[in-house]
Amino acid sequence: MFSSVEHSNHPHPDALVHFLFTDKDAPLSLSDEARSASSRPEFNSKPGQIAQVFPSSGPREIIVGLGDSSKLSVEAVRKAAIKLAQHIDNCQLEVIHIAENSTLNELKFGQAIGVGFQLASYNPRQMPGSRTEQEREVSLQIKALSEQFDKGLARGVGLGNAVNFSRRLVNTPPNIANPLWMADQAHDLSTRCQGLSVRVIQGQELDEESLIGHINVGRASCNPPCMIRIEWNPDPSANQKPVVLVGKTITYDTGGLSIKSKTGMPGMKHDKAGGCVVLGVMQAVADVIKPNFPVVALLTAAENSIDATAYRPDDVITYRNGVTVEVTNTDAEGRLVLADGLCWACEIENPECVIDIATLTGGVVTALGAEFAGLFTENERLLTEIKAAGDLSGEDVWQLPLTDGFRDMMKGSVSDIVNSVPGGKGHASQGAAFLSCFVTPEVPFAHIDMAGLSHTRNDEFPVDGPSGWGVRLLAQFLTARSENN
Ligand code: BES
Ligand code: ZN
Ligand code: ZN
Repeated sequence: MFSSVEHSNHPHPDALVHFLFTDKDAPLSLSDEARSASSRPEFNSKPGQIAQVFPSSGPREIIVGLGDSSKLSVEAVRKAAIKLAQHIDNCQLEVIHIAENSTLNELKFGQAIGVGFQLASYNPRQMPGSRTEQEREVSLQIKALSEQFDKGLARGVGLGNAVNFSRRLVNTPPNIANPLWMADQAHDLSTRCQGLSVRVIQGQELDEESLIGHINVGRASCNPPCMIRIEWNPDPSANQKPVVLVGKTITYDTGGLSIKSKTGMPGMKHDKAGGCVVLGVMQAVADVIKPNFPVVALLTAAENSIDATAYRPDDVITYRNGVTVEVTNTDAEGRLVLADGLCWACEIENPECVIDIATLTGGVVTALGAEFAGLFTENERLLTEIKAAGDLSGEDVWQLPLTDGFRDMMKGSVSDIVNSVPGGKGHASQGAAFLSCFVTPEVPFAHIDMAGLSHTRNDEFPVDGPSGWGVRLLAQFLTARSENN
């Protein structure tokens, strides 16, 4: 497969692509050969159907079915793009033009094609530490001949690039991707993209700032913890409140002293997915979305390991907002580091709203599988906006309860709250209730539990591995906020 995708104005395409609908005449720009191929009985313009012709003059033409135009969806277009990308790769083509098409000439469809090409180009061996042989390095160059569609295409290429960046980070093994490596990635991002500034809180500063969750969860690892702050601020003099995104960045989750089983532990390099998604979103913020308000990302990074200095079940720790927590289970570590990020967001950032994203619980996987992420919020506006962003991006969320009942359940006997209720049920909602104890009541807050989605296999992700799930959702959330601001 080509290794990257670029939006470019290269004038000489290897192929011209036409999209066809079952209920519409073929576009006028089709060559005679392509027109006759499109009217053959075996070609019926069903979604994702592909045929190719070699006209006597000009480049080859590829015709791609998109089904009934009245049922056209962003998702169908993205899926067709992935099939088309596979075809283009089989033919080893490098420059593609997409022909004018009045039915498709919308920003959102162009974006779907750009994202689809990028998703298809992802290669799980493109990450530090695993490459054994040189792979074909080809950058596919694409442009569309209709204006709005082409604008969307460029956007989609940028967004998909951010998704793939996130996927590469998630996939990087835990002996390489430790908390300070994640901080290096944030620094690299800020040199690669304009408008982002990075601060890393580590070592002594974690003590000074009472980031007690990081200190405890990370203390049994030789890879020290850190909290990584990335800021986008288009106009510092405007004093606007930022949207704050907090990402769980556990670079490996052994469970700690409440150790995971030998089948439960493998794959826990994905436990940093929340932070990797947030970093991918910041790339999209700087490259594509450029929101007209500030955005702050906080990556709460630690390795949950085991040694003689490990934090233990029965420990009681005090957070910077004064809340005391009895650790009942060292495997419920994500909420302990996220709590630092949420306290920090509310105390230091003066946030417009706070959203955290995390591979928090096995419970949400039982409830929603890989179909939806769990969305927990008591704020109507955030509920509406995040659900709408889910519908538009194709990354769906389903609301689960965050209520006083679950908060009551978390109450401790020797502390304000426990990090997990022994023998308790409803773990996904317990997690959300715990987190909400670290957010000031006036601050709109949402928690997204994406434990079932960090790595998936389906039509969109034909390669088994990290999905980058959440980048498109949060990118769409920020895009819509910026358009309405
Ligand atoms: N990282 C896990 C959650 C997880 C489980 C992610 C499966 C992806 C797949 C988290 O830190 C964890 O271990 N959660 C526990 C919480 C429990 C001990 C309260 C869980 O859900 O089992
Ligand atoms: Zn855990
Ligand atoms: Zn975890």
